Amino acid sequence: MLGCRRIRPQHTDESISRVEHKRILLIIGGGIAAYKCLELIRRLRERGVGVRVVMTTAAQQFITPLSVSALTNERVFTELFDLDDESEIGHVRLSRDADVILVAPATADLIAKMANGLANDLASSVLLASDKPPLIAPAMNPRMWLKPATQRNVRQLYADGARFVGPETGEMAERDEAGPGRLAEVPALIEAIEEMTASDRSARTHSSTGPLHNRHVVVTSGPTHEPIDPVRYIANRSSGKQGHAIAAAALAAGARVTLICGPVNLPDPAGVETIKVETAAEMLFAAERALPADIAVFCAAVADWRVAQQGTQKIKKQKGEPAPALELVPNPDILRTIAKQKKGRPELVIGFAAETEKVIEHASAKLKRKGCDWIVANDVSAETGIMGGNRNSVHLIREDGHESWPELSKDEVAVALVKEMAREFAVAEEKTQINKTMRAKTHKI
Ligand code: CTP
Repeated sequence: MLGCRRIRPQHTDESISRVEHKRILLIIGGGIAAYKCLELIRRLRERGVGVRVVMTTAAQQFITPLSVSALTNERVFTELFDLDDESEIGHVRLSRDADVILVAPATADLIAKMANGLANDLASSVLLASDKPPLIAPAMNPRMWLKPATQRNVRQLYADGARFVGPETGEMAERDEAGPGRLAEVPALIEAIEEMTASDRSARTHSSTGPLHNRHVVVTSGPTHEPIDPVRYIANRSSGKQGHAIAAAALAAGARVTLICGPVNLPDPAGVETIKVETAAEMLFAAERALPADIAVFCAAVADWRVAQQGTQKIKKQKGEPAPALELVPNPDILRTIAKQKKGRPELVIGFAAETEKVIEHASAKLKRKGCDWIVANDVSAETGIMGGNRNSVHLIREDGHESWPELSKDEVAVALVKEMAREFAVAEEKTQINKTMRAKTHKI
């Protein structure tokens, strides 16, 4: 069907202007998901983006340089020691000419090479010679992604300034394999490229200013997935839109931001250090490691329970047998754990409360129970459409009262909340200044 009609570009005028005339260097790694790069190149070309491609030897097992070159209208670079390439355009220029370097699919091998500075083929040499952090779109088997070695490499790359988009969670090409490891879909890749170019622009204009300059903000976002067996899990409904918007708004206010997010279908906000987790236990571990922080915002919809005994093999249905009984055990409460810390507690701890009735009453009780400073409470009953939607209607609850905000978009809620955080810190600073002056005056008297 699709082949019969001309596909109109699915983009807005704004997205055209954000990437038009940009140059992308796409480094295609060797994975089954490499085929998605053909679609990606088409969509980028429609947006007026120049795409130059480097393919690893393994990538050429999945798609051919000929088909890539037909779409980019340029030759495809494959060999490090190709005299023509070196005289016409060396690997250093290949990387420096690009506005964004996207590695997709980034295999475990390519990630390991990048993290360790190896340069034994054209792709890794270009990456090592580049003067900008890459955008990395991992794709691999979930077990490879979750291996401590890969996670160590990913953390190293985050620390080195790389940005990540995906991997997404779902079924793998291999039978009976599921989990985090799927290459992000083409729209998410394009959005991440757009954000990367936008954040490069904003980094040039506002990076070292803003009311939260010099503050570290940690945000949790999205759901957690608690595995039952390799293919099934327990989860809460959450798109991660609100948490991601808060991370982006805090960044825009000048903060250094660490976003800890469960499985979501959203691109990583550019300029934010994003740590991907799956379970509540992993989220708590990541939150504790992200400290010290000035502000911590717990926006994630953490699953309250996990199964006591996670199956290592898929639980099979047995004819005539009753459904399996799952024994559940409680998950750690991440917000409460951090808010009640005696040492290293962030100065401002903000929780969210998803309620379906008596919103203020239940949320105020939650504020006390969890020991946080503020609670952002929202009514998530089905008729509000808040879950997964783009709008939110919240009440900001403090120990001494609450205020109800009008219905706003999730981006607007994020900006308003960040303004409140900035105001809180400005007031605290002013009080410290007044106290200092008073002390100095008393001393003189
Ligand atoms: N939260 C958390 N860790 C958990 C559960 C919740 O950090 N294991 C945080 C959420 O991120 C949110 C706040 O606690 O900031 C409240 O979450 P909510 O789901 O509304 O409350 P619960 O603690 O699950 O309480 P209940 O289900 O009884 O409403």
